[in-house]
Amino acid sequence: MNKADYPVGVRINKVISETHDVKTFILNKEISAKPGQFVMAWIPEVDEKPFTLTGKGKTVSITVKKRGKATSKMHEMKEGDILGVRGPYGHGFDVVGKKIVLVGGGYGSAALLLLAEEAISKGIETTAIIGADTEKNILFADKIEKLGAKLVITTDDGSRGIKGFTTQALEKLLSEEKFDCIYTCGPEIMMYHIVQMGEKNNVPVQASLERWIKCGFGVCGQCVLDPTGLRVCKDGPVFGSADLKKISDFGFFARDKTGAKKEWKDFA
Ligand SMILES: Cc1cc2nc3c(=O)[nH]c(=O)nc-3n(C[C@H](O)[C@H](O)[C@H](O)COP(=O)(O)OP(=O)(O)OC[C@H]3O[C@@H](n4cnc5c(N)ncnc54)[C@H](O)[C@@H]3O)c2cc1C
Ligand code: FES
Repeated sequence: MNKADYPVGVRINKVISETHDVKTFILNKEISAKPGQFVMAWIPEVDEKPFTLTGKGKTVSITVKKRGKATSKMHEMKEGDILGVRGPYGHGFDVVGKKIVLVGGGYGSAALLLLAEEAISKGIETTAIIGADTEKNILFADKIEKLGAKLVITTDDGSRGIKGFTTQALEKLLSEEKFDCIYTCGPEIMMYHIVQMGEKNNVPVQASLERWIKCGFGVCGQCVLDPTGLRVCKDGPVFGSADLKKISDFGFFARDKTGAKKEWKDFA
């Protein structure tokens, strides 16, 4: 193990409520990372879980949706409390091209914040489609717009922005404009359709995948993708179209915490 693979105790400097069930934790640690890379956060006495960085350098942060045991405990944590942190890990987004579109679904939009920041700072024309089932679950749309991206919002129920799915908004955009790359993070079925649309329109896609992570640095095999042997924690979590087309699990199967392969629809 490298030194970076041992968790270090890090104080929470600030907690920000982003939505009714998403909080950002600003950490007292400096980490340099690429957009899309993640850290393992150890929640004392509960569990250790992966979270994408939403701030880097001197303002490192992670943004966490309250979901199960570990994330519920995190949501009780306050300024001054200590988390164990190791990383950064994984292969993040490669920022390429002159004109790009980002597509975020639900809390997946967290992974797109640093990407938008880097792309816009490099002068890349950036459009962001940010979607959720309903208005209260829209994450980081306003922050990404403030950075300078053109913003399109979709909600399944029409409570904010266009009524419908992010994929419908993307289809329309791709029929009107040419992009150098599509970047996405969100529900896997959404990303699966986006990769098909990229293929049809000859636009490369980079997608950030979620799997159950244990070691985080490529040794345990928990996050492996059939039939390629690619590991989400080490070779991903961001994969490009060429790899995604070879991964038969993509869009269909994932492993639960025991390592057993299940269809996505059987995950809670
Ligand atoms: C690389 C990576 C980056 C991530 N970044 C973020 C982030 O920035 N913000 C964020 O909020 N979350 C992120 N996640 C997801 C986050 O790690 C999980 O939501 C968290 O592990 C849930 O922990 P828990 O103890 O609260 O839930 P648990 O009690 O472990 O599980 C609650 C429910 O969620 C399901 N579940 C949990 N993890 C997974 C999984 N990996 N795949 C399928 N189902 C699962 C369980 O089956 C269960 O039904 C990321 C995951 C990965 C792999
Ligand atoms: S979590 Fe151990 S190899 Fe990926």
